[in-house]
Amino acid sequence: MATPADDASLNVWAAQLRALRDQTERFLREYRFGMQEIETKLSILREEFEHTHSYNPIEHVSSRVKSPDSLVEKVERKGIEPNFDAIRERITDIAGVRVTCSFVSDVYRLFDLLARQDDITVREVKDYIAEPKPNGYQSLHAIIEVPVFLSTGRVDVPVEVQFRTIAMDFWASLEHKIYYKYDSQVPERLLAELKDAADSAAELDHRMERLHRELHGPRAAKVVAV
Ligand code: GTP
Ligand code: MG
Repeated sequence: MATPADDASLNVWAAQLRALRDQTERFLREYRFGMQEIETKLSILREEFEHTHSYNPIEHVSSRVKSPDSLVEKVERKGIEPNFDAIRERITDIAGVRVTCSFVSDVYRLFDLLARQDDITVREVKDYIAEPKPNGYQSLHAIIEVPVFLSTGRVDVPVEVQFRTIAMDFWASLEHKIYYKYDSQVPERLLAELKDAADSAAELDHRMERLHRELHGPRAAKVVAV
């Protein structure tokens, strides 16, 4: 049977738990809104582009907000102070959007079309297409800050946008599965094969781009009318 003292401490604990839950939800909600703003921008570009140029430069868009578990894991891994201000400052991939395109030229074109919008600030770009990672990974990563208007005012939310081709995406998802399966201890032979496969994927991207340009002329990299 609970004593009055127990009841009091239980109430305090419940209130703290509720406050932390509400704070976490509010924190993550901002990132979800930022992600939705980017998704809207992409779907407007996709639809408008399709109408104006009879061409869709986007194959697929997927997005996610980091789960609390994965956020905690990253806070621990990076030695970040466990408070929302420090996390907001140091972790820029809490909201993530992945854009898959058919051609490398579309990857850069879409990034440009987003980056040129005047409510957006590009905080960081990592061009792993120009400079692939040693394991062969390719994609264009950008931390894009987008304004979100809440009842309490404006917040600028960072969203990590990864632009890649279908071939790059195919490679990255297989590589991710292999890493997961081997718990990051991938045998040398498989690593070499993966690097080789990444080179083949890049070669395929080049060939497809060449064919695409041949089909549509040199303007294919800018505006394509199919
Ligand atoms: P973290 O964000 O802490 O992981 O490090 P970072 O900021 O240096 O990462 P980076 O910007 O290079 O990559 C962030 C994201 O890109 C990852 O969460 C993955 O989604 C993807 N990525 C980066 N490198 C690889 C890779 O080698 N293989 C695969 N499959 N995905 C990768
Ligand atoms: Mg990152």
